[in-house]
Amino acid sequence: MKIQAPKGTKDVLPEESYMWQYVENKFREVCKLYGYQEVRFPTFEYTELFQRGVGETTDIVQKEMYTFLDKGGRSITLRPEGTASTARLFIEHGFASRPMPQRFYYIISAFRYENTQGGRFREFHQFGIENFGSSSPVTDAEVISLAYNFFTSIGLDNITVNINSIGCPACRREYVKNLKEYFLVNSQKLCHTCHQRLDKNPMRILDCKEEGCKLIAKDAPKPIDYLCDDCKSHFESVKTYLDSAKVLYKVDPFIVRGLDYYTKTVFEIVAPVSDKDLAICGGGRYDNLIEQIGGNSIPGIGFAIGVERLLMLLEQNGLLPARPQVPQVFVATVGENSLKKAFEIARMLRFEGISTVIEEMGRSLKSQMKYADKIGCQFSIIIGDDEIAKGVCKIRNMMTSSEEIVEIENVCQYLKEKLQK
Ligand code: HAM
Repeated sequence: MKIQAPKGTKDVLPEESYMWQYVENKFREVCKLYGYQEVRFPTFEYTELFQRGVGETTDIVQKEMYTFLDKGGRSITLRPEGTASTARLFIEHGFASRPMPQRFYYIISAFRYENTQGGRFREFHQFGIENFGSSSPVTDAEVISLAYNFFTSIGLDNITVNINSIGCPACRREYVKNLKEYFLVNSQKLCHTCHQRLDKNPMRILDCKEEGCKLIAKDAPKPIDYLCDDCKSHFESVKTYLDSAKVLYKVDPFIVRGLDYYTKTVFEIVAPVSDKDLAICGGGRYDNLIEQIGGNSIPGIGFAIGVERLLMLLEQNGLLPARPQVPQVFVATVGENSLKKAFEIARMLRFEGISTVIEEMGRSLKSQMKYADKIGCQFSIIIGDDEIAKGVCKIRNMMTSSEEIVEIENVCQYLKEKLQK
């Protein structure tokens, strides 16, 4: 039996990898413009980090983590997201004593054992940013504006930014009490899992995917109606600053997000993928996360973008650039002498930034030309004993089949000019 890639994972082939590089470069550019710098952290962490950070009662921690004991008997988990790790990194490397805010971005793979329909993968990739140290609503607007400008910079203008506030622990107490009462009245209609959530964390019922639960959740109390004065004025300021930053947004009182660390502002950016609105970005403020995992009381806010979904969307909207041709030039050889010269010419061309391959398999000249044509080279260089003796080579335009004799020392200049056209 042939071994295949595991369910929910994806190989990236040469015909796709340039698209990944394209969006990665764009994301890096926009992060730089907003003053964010890259961090890299391990693919796996001690399980406790996600239990304490993401939250024991979340779907991610209860059902979706890839957790195992390593050979030393420690519980290890493949990261299901990047926020908890970035917060751990922040504490571990003493960033609290550096000037605030600290601005980080990351490009990561993440792992969740999920159903694999509707743009969900078990290994997926995220572009994320985290801002630590500022509790000001200006930061909320800056963070949302970065995401918004990233999407518009790659031509996506059919996105919707939905924002909400889920309050702080103080106003949440009253809200959760009322929410629980509401669900208790309707408890016979809730699914088995939501019955358990009712006791431990009724807010998680609001993002249950079961139809019955969704129907009841529709009329449930909304966090935005329970905000304390501080949370209310924070949210009002976020909206004002978003207007100033020219970010178009909608208030969606039903966004609660599926991770426990959020406080105050939460947001999602959705876009139509195959006629269904899909979340391509999710984020929010998390003012207690650093403290929850053992640091000082330092506020934070960030988001993550799903890269697979982003690429689906770009492809669907015809927004991907053309695939660059690699390699551009083929150096054909006829015999041992010319092989030596081929290495020399290839070295020269590569030094000038021209993507070049040489014949590696000792084929006939005819087969070499066929190969160069199939792999899409624009030019082939042909050198035999005669050419070497005269210090020249033949350059063949693979599109037109026309050939020119060029002195070896002028090959780079000749090709640079031709390839530019
Ligand atoms: P999240 O909403 O779980 O948030 O994920 C962010 C984005 O990652 C989603 O909007 C979606 O595009 C993508 N995504 C999530 N799960 C999958 C999956 N199974 N397959 C494909 N794409 C997926 C977080 O992860 C938070 N850490 C975001 C954050 C950063 N909040 C504050 N800072």
